Amino acid sequence: MDFAIQAGDLGKYYGDCIVAGVFESRKLTEAAKALDEMCRGYLTKVLDQGDMDGRANTTLLLHNVPAIGSKRVLLVGLGKEEEYVEKVFLEAIRAAFKALHQTGVKDVGLCVADLIVKGRDTAWSVLQSTLLVEESVYRFDRLKSKREERQPSLQKIIFLIGDEAARAGAEQAFKQGAAIACGMNVTKDLGNLAPNICTPTYLAEQAGEMAKTYNLKLSVLEEKDMEALGMGALLAVARGSHQPAKLIVLEYHGREGIEKPVVLVGKGVTFDTGGISLKPAVDLDEMKYDMGGAASVFGTLTAVAEMKLPINVTAIIPTTENMPGGNATKPGDVVTSLSGQTIEILNTDAEGRLILCDALTYAERYNPDVVIDIATLTGACVVALGHVVSGLMGTDEPLVQELLQAGEKASDRAWQLPLGEEYQELLKSNFADMANIGGRWGGAITAACFLSRFTRKYRWAHLDIAGTAWKSGKEKGATGRPVPLLTQFLIDRAQQH
Ligand code: BES
Ligand code: MN
Ligand code: ZN
Repeated sequence: MDFAIQAGDLGKYYGDCIVAGVFESRKLTEAAKALDEMCRGYLTKVLDQGDMDGRANTTLLLHNVPAIGSKRVLLVGLGKEEEYVEKVFLEAIRAAFKALHQTGVKDVGLCVADLIVKGRDTAWSVLQSTLLVEESVYRFDRLKSKREERQPSLQKIIFLIGDEAARAGAEQAFKQGAAIACGMNVTKDLGNLAPNICTPTYLAEQAGEMAKTYNLKLSVLEEKDMEALGMGALLAVARGSHQPAKLIVLEYHGREGIEKPVVLVGKGVTFDTGGISLKPAVDLDEMKYDMGGAASVFGTLTAVAEMKLPINVTAIIPTTENMPGGNATKPGDVVTSLSGQTIEILNTDAEGRLILCDALTYAERYNPDVVIDIATLTGACVVALGHVVSGLMGTDEPLVQELLQAGEKASDRAWQLPLGEEYQELLKSNFADMANIGGRWGGAITAACFLSRFTRKYRWAHLDIAGTAWKSGKEKGATGRPVPLLTQFLIDRAQQH
């Protein structure tokens, strides 16, 4: 998709379609009013005929509107003016692109400055529109023998912005938006891929491709290397699988000289059967997205590299399948982690924390400024927060706050859950330093408590994305979250430091 910015003079737009907003009860926005004047009340007349009332999520496509340069006008309903909030804006833009894809429109002029939501600026609207259009043209059809749908004709978005100062910020906004969308597509593709294709070996190969494209430093630990190092927890998960586990490290150096990197650790379980603590069969196919954390780290690194952000980022991806088998880890097995701490594995389905704990210890050798792990870690997090916000926990409050704010800014929200001694106690084991589960209640928190025991040497936060990385139902698929949150966090950091 191409993006451009033009001054707000709607008379000077000669493209395929102008998009303008209408509030409920047929109240025109400024842009719609300007168009209405140019065509001498034609829009008002159409609205008065009752074809559209401005309700949210409605659209009306008009052809050959008299006396204007644009071939078409698409009116989008914005609902009641006093109830016009962020969610309404996002849904209106989504509805607009959906309507546009029913047409042969190749370029579209978006009157974004006209659609500003309270508390947000033009740059935010431009960035979000960029993400939405890329989302609307995203297809995952590489596993189909032929493409079924008609491909969208839309190729170019022109943001029509009157205010000169706002125009200046809009350019950076759509560039950031395009980079984030590119990263989200990487994340979605990896999450959507079938688990017989997207194996740990495949992820390592993809990392190799990324390293070539963006000139990153790559290293991959094989199982024999993990054995030599003593990664007993990661290896315990890999035992039941015929696919060899990997630990992938990608380093992006965007800043001259020495600066401690932000280390992102992503859970890469390419299929989670639960192991010997086998999961039920219902919707088990969805456990292919148990590498959503890893995918979001690859996506974020892509966005960062696309923007050439002046910052250092290191990605660490522990990746394996979690399978049952004659050689698989059994409930009751005790293993020694890379940190030296011993773990009684009471439930082999709590495998994410086992692969992450060794990766988190391994992160120490990259001398991190901060470490953030991202994981589809617990069903308990989905019970607590649903599919709306990601769970966020950490031992460094300023870091947690930075991440919360980045999520807010990027409209990819997270919500903090507590940690603490009372929860740590639940991980007590009679036979090892700790158990890998904490019982029935507070599961998202006890999982994070487990991880925190391996992060004492640096500032750390953890994102549980079990509820946000994937959409179930008819539109089943990976969402690309939390790439917007993580990228915004890194953009802000690159600016501050
Ligand atoms: N990958 C799952 C968590 C998950 C559940 C992600 C649902 C997405 C949707 C994780 O490995 C897991 O199985 N967690 C267990 C932990 C339990 C055994 C303590 C869970 O949440 O049930
Ligand atoms: Mn599991
Ligand atoms: Zn899992």
